[in-house]
Amino acid sequence: MAGVVLVVGSYNQDHVWSSDELPAPGATRLGTYASGPGGKGFNQAVAAARAGARTGFLTALGEDAAAASARALARDEGIELHAEVFPALPSGTAGIFVDASGRNVITVAPGANAALSEGFVEAARPAFAGAGVVLAQLEVAAGAVAAALALGRGCGATTVLNPAPANAPTSDTLLALADVLTPNETEFAALLARHGGRAVDPDSLHAMAGESLHALCQSLQATTWVITLGGHGVFVSHADGRRRGDDAPCYRLAAEPARVVDTTGAGDAFSGALAAALATLPEAPFADAVGFANRYAARSTEQHGAALAMPHLAAAE
Ligand code: RIB
Ligand code: NA
Repeated sequence: MAGVVLVVGSYNQDHVWSSDELPAPGATRLGTYASGPGGKGFNQAVAAARAGARTGFLTALGEDAAAASARALARDEGIELHAEVFPALPSGTAGIFVDASGRNVITVAPGANAALSEGFVEAARPAFAGAGVVLAQLEVAAGAVAAALALGRGCGATTVLNPAPANAPTSDTLLALADVLTPNETEFAALLARHGGRAVDPDSLHAMAGESLHALCQSLQATTWVITLGGHGVFVSHADGRRRGDDAPCYRLAAEPARVVDTTGAGDAFSGALAAALATLPEAPFADAVGFANRYAARSTEQHGAALAMPHLAAAE
């Protein structure tokens, strides 16, 4: 259904330590601590909702304090929650270290997220049938992600896969289930290494000629690619026959200026906002949706935190 985004992915309780510099291995630094809601799935669901889409979130939870706050937050945000509950498992957690320039390092313990089942996804078929866009990442069980994208496509939704984190396993079959792929430069380089056997330096991607990067994308998977390049903006590459309206086969959008304090969840802001724009304005040019996601993600980096740093900024405004 137009206007509705269904996000399939993780909920994590984020534990965040901030200090001037990231600690080097073996080092100790003094800093500050905060805890808040996160997980790539939940962050993207909150972004989609705050960007103006009616949003559902399918996830896996334990039966702990984090699960209770996931339920309360989903309710507060107007997000329809479909949670598979695993009483014997903890909800997901993430340990996040942030430096004064807003850079971070993260370790995730998936907990219940890794147990999300294909059967639970299948049983939520009515939620898929009601979605215009189905958006997934790779922080829940791989089988559940594949089932969700297949079901979304079968129900006529546009499927978007944010292939994050970079070291999560992927198959050609999984990539082929996505109408739109949204890696950052590190995730794109990891996909290339796994699927094309080709080593590229992620920091060199932005300097590549557009036509070469376009060819690289389409050799990996013939679909629509939206690669976020951090301070170097966003690159879009469409497979032949996959272009919408008069969108060019490939193009680049410049980065949005931002007063960065914390980049945690910036990629999630981008994917959630892109999904919201595609769902709420399905007839608008694709480049407009990408431009909106680009602005939305920039604003998210000006606040500390992940899910709660998502701006209230609707695509349709
Ligand atoms: O993308 C940011 C997210 O990655 C954090 O919220 C953390 O939970 C990890 O999943
Ligand atoms: Na942030």
